Amino acid sequence: GSNAMWGGRFAEGPSAIMREINASIPFDKALWRQDIAASKAHVAMLAAQGIVTEDDAGTISRGLDTVAAEYEAQGVPEDWDLEDIHMTTESRLAELIGPAAGRLHTARSRNDQVATDFRLWVRETIDQVDAGLVALQRALVTRAGEHAGSVMPGFTHLQTAQPVTLGHHLMAYYEMIRRDRSRFADARARLNECPLGSAALAGTGFPIDRQATCDALGFDRPTANSLDAVSDRDFALDYLQAAAQCALHLSRLAEEMILWASQPFGFIRMPDTLSTGSSIMPQKKNPDAAELVRGHAGRIVGCLTALMVTMKGLPLAYSKDMQDDKPPVFEAAGLLALSIAATTGMVADSTFDTARMRAAAEMGFATATDLADWLVREADIPFREAHHITGAAVKLAEERGVALDKLALEELQAIDQRIGEGVFAALSVDASVAARASYGGTAPDQVSDRVAEARKALGME
Ligand code: ARG
Repeated sequence: GSNAMWGGRFAEGPSAIMREINASIPFDKALWRQDIAASKAHVAMLAAQGIVTEDDAGTISRGLDTVAAEYEAQGVPEDWDLEDIHMTTESRLAELIGPAAGRLHTARSRNDQVATDFRLWVRETIDQVDAGLVALQRALVTRAGEHAGSVMPGFTHLQTAQPVTLGHHLMAYYEMIRRDRSRFADARARLNECPLGSAALAGTGFPIDRQATCDALGFDRPTANSLDAVSDRDFALDYLQAAAQCALHLSRLAEEMILWASQPFGFIRMPDTLSTGSSIMPQKKNPDAAELVRGHAGRIVGCLTALMVTMKGLPLAYSKDMQDDKPPVFEAAGLLALSIAATTGMVADSTFDTARMRAAAEMGFATATDLADWLVREADIPFREAHHITGAAVKLAEERGVALDKLALEELQAIDQRIGEGVFAALSVDASVAARASYGGTAPDQVSDRVAEARKALGME
């Protein structure tokens, strides 16, 4: 048969393939709460404007509550003939309350309806992401406070560069997450305009009150152009871009934790609760959660790419391609929520082997820059020359197989007369980190100050 909602002008119904390719209910049923809320706001406005009677509006609104209760209890039924969540709900409403259900769609189209529902969904997701990121920041800040003075090697090119503190390293991720939260907040602010009332593409001739539905749904203002409102998916792309960048940060941290948990590093022990074993090698404890956080970042970037490519050639206004906007957003949201939760657990519950980190910092001549700085400061040698002298000292230490501060004073003075006894105080890893007290540097006092500021910003004080 032909479709009950739009079949009036059709002699034949859709083929099996048409029904299948057209059906979005398998995934857009996730929008049911937003769809019911937007319909209730719409029908209340229609009644207030005298476009439907208060009686019909009351019947429709109570009917929608019943549909919602059914969905809550039994899930949303998936009937491909009903295409999507909007027609599924309206059809059930008609079964429940009869012909009055047909008045709900006055002055509305599925085009402004889905744009409204989806904005509401993404807005809620952004709020959930922010709560998750706050929890992650709290974990980072807590561990950073414990380890403001724990020395570890800092790397460039993954080669030992200069000693840093573990607290400083963890606070680097706090900063990344701080920017991520600001990107999500920015996306949310731009998203928060209400498309409802744009109708199919051109607006409506009914005397609707767009401000009323906008207010009822917690939007800041109604959208200003109906063509844009029904064909705009920037809000979904803004969300995915913020999600991709956040996932990228989580992936970098995951990669470092995987590295640190490897036996040659041995910097951390991952919590058992976020690790798995091997079915053949009894000794194994694998950082699978971290690896999946790293892996999920790739999929989230893929979701962003998918929607960008879907949107890139679409003429105004709505085209059915846009129905494909939802799967990548839903997928990215699920992956990101899991990644944030897993990362928070790994940060909160990993054990740091600070002795091993310190020993690693003491190898690899990480304080060579401190020797050069000492020559500049105490002997007034130009930095380039000091760099050269220090290079010779490193070469000698490497030949001897000892750390820089284990060379004898006479050996150092053979390289350059101006080196004095006082240099040894500068060559320890603790002296090295303590010296880097410039704002934002790795000195434990600096790290403690940044941690204190962060705790305040997070309401932890
Ligand atoms: N399921 C559709 C979507 O998600 C709803 C909008 C349908 N509009 C239309 N004119 N067929 O995009």
